[in-house]
Formats: sequence, C-alpha cells, structure tokens
Amino acid sequence: MQAELNRRITIMKNLVNVLVIISFALLFTSSKPDKSYYNELYRPQFHFTPEKNWHNDPNGLVYYDGEYHMFYQYNPKGNEWGFIHWGHAVSTDLVHWEHLPIALYPDENSEDKEYCTAFSGSAIVDEKNILGKQEGEVKTLVAFYTSQHCGQRIAYSTDKGRTWEKFEGNPIIPYDKTDDARDPKVVWHDPSQSYVMVLYRKTSEDDKSKGISFYTSKNLTNWEYKSHVYGFYECPDLIPMQVTNRPEEIKWVLFDGDGSYLIGNFDGEKFTPETAKMPGDFGKNYYATQSWSNIPQEDGRILQIAWMRGGSFPDMPFNGQMTFPAELTLTKFNFGYKVTRKPVEEIALLHDKHYSWENEKLIPGINQNIVKKVKGDCLHITGEFDLKSCSNFGFYIRNSKKETGTELMYDVRRGTLSILGVSAPVAPVNNKISLEILIDRASIEVYVNGGQTVISNCFTPDEGAENLTLFCSGGEIIVDKLDIYKMNSAWNSDK
Ligand code: FRU
Repeated sequence: MQAELNRRITIMKNLVNVLVIISFALLFTSSKPDKSYYNELYRPQFHFTPEKNWHNDPNGLVYYDGEYHMFYQYNPKGNEWGFIHWGHAVSTDLVHWEHLPIALYPDENSEDKEYCTAFSGSAIVDEKNILGKQEGEVKTLVAFYTSQHCGQRIAYSTDKGRTWEKFEGNPIIPYDKTDDARDPKVVWHDPSQSYVMVLYRKTSEDDKSKGISFYTSKNLTNWEYKSHVYGFYECPDLIPMQVTNRPEEIKWVLFDGDGSYLIGNFDGEKFTPETAKMPGDFGKNYYATQSWSNIPQEDGRILQIAWMRGGSFPDMPFNGQMTFPAELTLTKFNFGYKVTRKPVEEIALLHDKHYSWENEKLIPGINQNIVKKVKGDCLHITGEFDLKSCSNFGFYIRNSKKETGTELMYDVRRGTLSILGVSAPVAPVNNKISLEILIDRASIEVYVNGGQTVISNCFTPDEGAENLTLFCSGGEIIVDKLDIYKMNSAWNSDK
C-alpha cells in the first residue's frame, strides 16, 4: 500500500517537473518580441524600410482584397543600387507592413548589374480578366515594369501577389536604344474605356525631348503611342482628381518623378495643361512618387508615397526609406487649383502618450519652453499658431543640453519656412500658420497649412538628443492649439 502511494507520488512529481520544464521552454521560445528588431539608431519606426539592403522607388502600388501592396526597387545583393528586383510588402492599414518574398527577378539571369533587371513600374487589378489568366474568383494582379535594356514588360499574379509569372508575350513595348523609356504607370480612362500608359522617355536622342509619352490599349498587351509632353523625368503618374470644393469638376493631374505636377485635362490620348508646373515638395528627399491603384470607391482617397532619395543611414543594414503614405486632394483656392497632401489618418493607430495645449500666449524671453515635458525620438505634432507680433517662431527638434538639434523656423517677414537647409515660401492664412510635423528616427516631414506646402527631409539626429523646444522671437505669438503624440513603433510593438 505504502509502496503504491510512493510510486504515485513519484509519478506526480515527475509530471509536475515536466510541466514546469515545458512552461519555461514556452516562456523563452514563445512570441516575446525581439527588442533589437527594427530598433537601430536610424531605423525608421513608422516609415517603411526593408530589413536590409538597398531600395529605391515604390512600385506596383495596388490595393486588392483588403491589402495595400507595395513593391519597391530592391537590391538583394547589397547596400548599393544595382541588380534591381521588386521587393514586396503588404499592409492592411498603410502603417504596419508585412515583408513578403521578392516578387520580380531580373528577366535574364546575368552577372550584369543592369541587364534586364526589374526597373520601376505599376500594377492594376485585371477586373474583367482581360489578360485571361484568372484562376477561380481571385482577380489577377498585373504588373507593368521596365526590364532595363529589354523593353516594357508584364508580370502577373493569380494568387494575390504571392507569386508572379512573366507574361509569355513580353516585351509589350520593345526596347529602343535611343528613347531610354522606363517606369510605365497604367491607369484606366473611363470615357474612352481604355487603359492609358504614361511612360518616361525621350522622343529623340536629344535630351531636350525628355518627357512623358502616352500610350493606349484595350487589351493590356497591345499599346499604341498617342502623344508626348516635354519637360518631365522618370516615374510619371496620371491621376483624375475631383476638385474638393467643386465636386462636379474633375481635373487630370500629371505627376513628375519628383512629385511636381501639371493640372489640366486629358481626353484619353493627349494631356492639355492648364497650369504651370508646381512643386509637390520642397524638401531634399522626395522622389519617385506613385499613387495606389484600385482604391475602393467607398474609400475614394488618392494615396501617394515616395522614396526619400538621398537620405543617409550611417552603419545601418538598410539604405533608404519611404515617406509616410499621404492623401492627395485637389482644391480650387483663390489663386487657382492646387494639390494638397496630408499624412493618412491611419497615423493615429500609432499614437501613444498625448500632450496638448490651447490658447497659450508666448512672449519671447518670458515664457519657458512650453513643450519641455515632451521627450522622444518619434513624434506626431499638429499645431495652429497665430503670428500676432512675432518675427519668427519654430521648433528645435531632437535637441539636448549639448546640441541645439534641428531648427524648423517660420520667418514672418520673408514668408518662408526653413529646415535642414531648405526653404519653402509660405503665406499665413488669416495671420495663422498651421503645422503638422512627423518626426521619425531618420526623417522630418512638415505639412503646412493643411498640406498646401510640404517639406520632406531625411536627417541623422544625435543619439540621445530627445528634447523638443518651441521658440518665438521679436514679439508674441499665440498657440491656438498644439497636440503632440509620442509615436509607437509600427515594427516592434514593444517599443
Ligand atoms: C528612379 C529610377 C527609375 C528606374 C529606377 C531604377 O529612381 O531611376 O527611373 O526605373 O529608378 O532603379
């Protein structure tokens, strides 16, 4: 009897030991976030970067079945440009991105870092199965890309972008040594029931002929040249936009690679500008803009993202970042039509601690820095400032006791907003300036007066300098309203 009891006790003890071991094992191997993931000194916390290596332009932006796809120019072999493939990520909210395997490989398996590599392009959903590749209910995604020195080409996916096939009839526009054609963006033109391709190219060997050529197609594979607009370079985009304050009016907006644009009309074959070319961004790092295709009607937004070309990321495993996705609108102001740009509202998904002020009068030399309690490397700031009698005001961003940080300053007499060596002309509205500022570990984007002016810049702030200062000089200013949110990381939710 006693022996049997002892045996049972031993079994129980062993069982408990096994359970304890299993629990410990689970504790240490389970989903504890790795705090070092996406946490390097200049690793953007809410801007897109690949885990490692070089990337440039966003490509193939398309929304399908609840997912925003973003492909991008990517070198899997290293941290410099070359051997370009299409990297791939998806998001359900434009904020959190899931990395997926490389989508497009070069068309020739070559050791040449440029030959037939997968240059920039766009993607659409083949709603009517025009390409004839659809399997079951899932629509085909069709990507149009430039195969460097090998013409304009098509790749398609029948499994929501997870795997890609090259179209057997490639190239759809053959390579032409003189025209340097690249970066096809395909859009639907409803009135003519045709697809339109805008393609960067030269019409002759003369560099002055650089511009955008327009092609049309009914079947996505046969493309007919129609017209050309001079004075553009790389990564074109063509977007029909409803005028926000005149909803019955639609204008077509033709974007250049640097985000500058012409507003005009498009009859399906020819673009007729009605404005001069306007800058889309005044910063140093805004390039290769592209808008998402197939955004559902009930959403209706025009969403744009760009590569922050020219940024520097010392000692980082990656070499580049995208801008934060933005919404574009077209408005008729008293001076004419203009595209405005604002960060997508989904940014609020990352809001952490909130600070806010209302109706605060700042008098130079008297007030303390009212934002002194805000400390951090990732902030979302929105504020409205009544200029009153001040001669300038602004922020010192990422400063410390030792370092002044980065100055963002509005100069009232000059009417300029300056930061990181660039200035943009900015006129107050009713003697007020409104600012929306996105500060991440390697970039500052400043949206002024409801997105009428935007300045996008990369920067390399000092490690540990995490203070913020609001200053004004020459006279008083009233802070009508100021909200500052610390930002959570989109990559490492444990931040
Ligand atoms: C723009 C660009 C495109 C080209 C791609 C190559 O940055 O030069 O014109 O398709 O990059 O990576």
